[in-house]
Amino acid sequence: MLDILVGGFYGDEGKGKVATYLALKDKPEIAVRTGSINAGHTAVYKGRTYRLRSIPSAFINKRTRLAIPPGALIKLDVFLKEMEETHTKDRIMIDGHVGVITDAEVEEEVKNSILSKEIGSTKQGVGAAESKRIMRSLKLAKDYSELSDFIVDVPKEIVKCSKDGLRIQVEGSQGHMLSLYHGEYPYVTSRNTMASGILNEVGVGPKYVDNIVVIFKAFTTRVGAGSLRGELSPKEAQNLGFLEFGTVTGRQRRAAPFDPELANAVIKINSANQVAITKLDVLFKNAAKVNDFNKLPKEAKDWINSMEDKIGAPVTLIGTGEDALDMIDRRKEVSGK
Ligand code: IMP
Ligand code: MG
Repeated sequence: MLDILVGGFYGDEGKGKVATYLALKDKPEIAVRTGSINAGHTAVYKGRTYRLRSIPSAFINKRTRLAIPPGALIKLDVFLKEMEETHTKDRIMIDGHVGVITDAEVEEEVKNSILSKEIGSTKQGVGAAESKRIMRSLKLAKDYSELSDFIVDVPKEIVKCSKDGLRIQVEGSQGHMLSLYHGEYPYVTSRNTMASGILNEVGVGPKYVDNIVVIFKAFTTRVGAGSLRGELSPKEAQNLGFLEFGTVTGRQRRAAPFDPELANAVIKINSANQVAITKLDVLFKNAAKVNDFNKLPKEAKDWINSMEDKIGAPVTLIGTGEDALDMIDRRKEVSGK
């Protein structure tokens, strides 16, 4: 059973939150995180907050093995520090083909005025490293002796798990609308962030996939340049409680109300069979920490029902707070319909 978690819009939809919830509930044997250190995922569990840039958010489940797939990139200092902080040394697998970012690529991006001024890049060296990989000059995880204990053929391990009927969680990073190919180029990141691109980084065929979950937030945010339909002024965003700051860069995020038409298109193109919406408690204060759909305030239920009509897909997971377990899970209900 392989589930792919895809960001629906511009990243920061709460993929970390959904991944941690599903890790605790579904107990995946392996969790894989694609992408790289420009993407910060936040996991909150039992009063602790973890800001992750390499390690899969599913680390919260101590029995889940954690994998970095061939198409991902790591940076040694960030990775080793995170592994230490999360105490995950004994269950980490890094594919030998994972790209390794060094300070040289970070410097290259910091000096690049297009990335800094026009695109609003996070300047973590990811695009520069990826371009070196394309030119076949980037060093990979297998070239670093300090990683030798962790090197595993990740796609092979995933195929084995799948054959054994075990669960695999694949955590994408950023969001569909930041895809290098399918987003609003050049206001995009340096990878294909949609479901098929995520799978491409993992390196197994599409027939292994069982569920594609697209994740949205109950409002929309974007950092960096590019269009944002219905963008609010910072003051309006603050009044609505939509004000957020980036996990990696600390920049204030631009904000807009949820865009159901765009969500509909994104769901279709990703061939998603499930939708998660996080932070419903920001729109409806009385939704905070509710775990049962029927216990939501009427206006929150009406909002979800009307969004389901507009986006054309069932909302199976609803986030109602920052803790991993602040979630309404309607997966059984929806599959029984
Ligand atoms: P880069 O990938 O760091 O070069 O950034 C390119 C664009 O993608 C910029 O607008 C960034 O703000 C945005 N971006 C990159 N990673 C993330 C992320 O994890 N969340 C949200 N936006 C991101
Ligand atoms: Mg983020």
